[in-house]
Amino acid sequence: MNETTVFPPPKHFTEQAASASARSMADYERMYAAAASEPERFWAEQAAQLDWSAKWNKVLDWSKPPFAKWFVGGTLNASANCIDRHLSTWRRNKAAILWEGENFEQRTLTYQELHRKVAKLANAMKALGLKKGVRSIIYMPMVPEAAVAMLACARLGMPHSVVFGGFSAEALKTRINDLEATVVLTADASLRRGKEVLLKQNVDEALKDCPSVQHVIVYKRLGRMIEMKQGRDHWWDDLTFGVSEVCQAEPLDSEHPLYVLYTSGTTGKPKGVVHTTGGYMTQALATMKWVFDLKEEDVFWCTADIGWVTGHTYVVYGPLAAGATVLMYEGAPDWPKPDRFWRIIEKYRVSIFYTSPTAIRAFIRQGDDWPNGRDLSSLRLLGTVGEPINPAAWQWYWKTIGKERCPIIDTWWQTETGGIMISPLPAATPMKPGSATKPLPGVALELVDEHGKAIDKGKGFLTIARPWPGMLRTLYKDDERFEQNYWSQYPGRYFTGDTAVRDEDGYLWVLGRNDDVIKVSGHRISGVEIESVLVANKNVAEAAVVGAPHDIKGEAIHAFVTLKANVQPSDAVAHELSDWIVKEIGALARPERIHFVAALPKTRSGKIMRRLMREIVTTHKVAGDTSTLEDYSVVVQLSQQGKEEDEILGAKAGNKK
Ligand code: WTA
Repeated sequence: MNETTVFPPPKHFTEQAASASARSMADYERMYAAAASEPERFWAEQAAQLDWSAKWNKVLDWSKPPFAKWFVGGTLNASANCIDRHLSTWRRNKAAILWEGENFEQRTLTYQELHRKVAKLANAMKALGLKKGVRSIIYMPMVPEAAVAMLACARLGMPHSVVFGGFSAEALKTRINDLEATVVLTADASLRRGKEVLLKQNVDEALKDCPSVQHVIVYKRLGRMIEMKQGRDHWWDDLTFGVSEVCQAEPLDSEHPLYVLYTSGTTGKPKGVVHTTGGYMTQALATMKWVFDLKEEDVFWCTADIGWVTGHTYVVYGPLAAGATVLMYEGAPDWPKPDRFWRIIEKYRVSIFYTSPTAIRAFIRQGDDWPNGRDLSSLRLLGTVGEPINPAAWQWYWKTIGKERCPIIDTWWQTETGGIMISPLPAATPMKPGSATKPLPGVALELVDEHGKAIDKGKGFLTIARPWPGMLRTLYKDDERFEQNYWSQYPGRYFTGDTAVRDEDGYLWVLGRNDDVIKVSGHRISGVEIESVLVANKNVAEAAVVGAPHDIKGEAIHAFVTLKANVQPSDAVAHELSDWIVKEIGALARPERIHFVAALPKTRSGKIMRRLMREIVTTHKVAGDTSTLEDYSVVVQLSQQGKEEDEILGAKAGNKK
């Protein structure tokens, strides 16, 4: 935030930018003003870049806010927009997906090949009786078949929900049951840091208690011997063998749900964010072109897993709709050596690279020899997403990876927004390290104070004042929570849950969440969800979970626990609780530290004061207002414990944001 250096877009980059890109701030201002004065006309122009089977008769229906309908009456199919429309052009033999397995296996799928695979799987699913409206769960590794599964579901009008492979059987079960899914698409296993991740085994475990599931389709990634339940489980290869390669894409209403993606909120239960077809695809395609300056010859690599929204919009739907060549990599960034990413960039001549600040900070720690030992000259654009990037990490990315030639797009958005909302336009926007800069055209972003009054400068809450096509339509089967969660704080506005600062130049600096969502390595984890898991353990009386700054992960999970009367705090209990969380949610929720305390600080009305615990793990003392606190001695104990831990562990406090 104290970083004042401004980096203009490299001149060479602007000169060579794609024809669709804005080349100056004047271009940007013009686009922004046009979109602001006639938003519907602006978005209709973007939607027209897609292939529609029937045109809409109304751009936006906002008669029942907050329930928006975009491109009303129009019909289209997302899978046809990602594949079929390229088949009548020279792109039919262009590489759609370049894939590398963690074990160095390689595959290339052209748009034609992708089309055949999608059509065959869709036909095979049809033969099982699966059809429009039926829900599917996709629990797959980063293999091309994951994209094939998404596109085949989209082709038939079957809303999919991808569950990140790092979630446990228990977490998978919750999502399957909430969605009442009929089919699960998975793989026998996958590779992560040389170890096998047994996906199908987790599915079997989850399905002990999922009455809605009738079919499981298993892609053979490693060819492991696994149990196949007769009648329910089918090998992907067997099911698609000899099946027709022709499968008409179902023309779907613009508002037909394309997918549900579960994300963490501020209660124990994950929220099923619903995205529909026409508006989402419009946002995906438009942002793909504006933000990434996409050209035909680019090799585009977004390192996100398909289990997250970034993997939906910028590994599958956005780039494929734009006819790009997408790189997909199965495994860990540091396997077998810390230069795996740089090696991949060198080998496939990647030109656009989009990753997370956590990954960048981990690379910095590993030392410059790793990237310096590889040829990174193919890179022309770098991006980050998912959490604030600290200026030092930005500078390193700029110098060591981009060699001061590549613009860096720091993109702010959310699972709920469907696509990028705040970002530099790479050939136009001067960059300030640590700032996502300005809202994209068509994004009515406003900062408000606690009374909901829009403010020009300073610190405020990030809201969006007008609907946008890629916005979530609701939370699955929970309209009420949707209204309550996003639209009740500031009537008429969507509340992002984030706090930000707008500086003198109108640049936005997103500070982070304003709720109990913790961003660990860019992944959204709900503190409250971990708390409910903890209190369900036999040893635990009460629990409070907060995020603390972490040098690499951005934030780390700290759990404060009071134990039941007959249980003594010990390392063994701490391990047991840690493993319990991993079993119930997944390894991504493993706490950095479990703090045993005699009591949790609470207000007189009995509300746990997480703010105080956040302060303790951040600054190791309590400075804030404690006048509502019921028992001050609790805070003294907590803060003393903080100091002792500091001394014993040499733990670092006061990280950047
Ligand atoms: C945070 C990820 C600062 C923010 C696409 C948001 C960011 C949450 C940035 C959404 C950024 C995302 N700078 N913070 N460039 N990008 N965030 O749903 O707190 O996993 O609300 O979507 O990540 O996380 P989600």
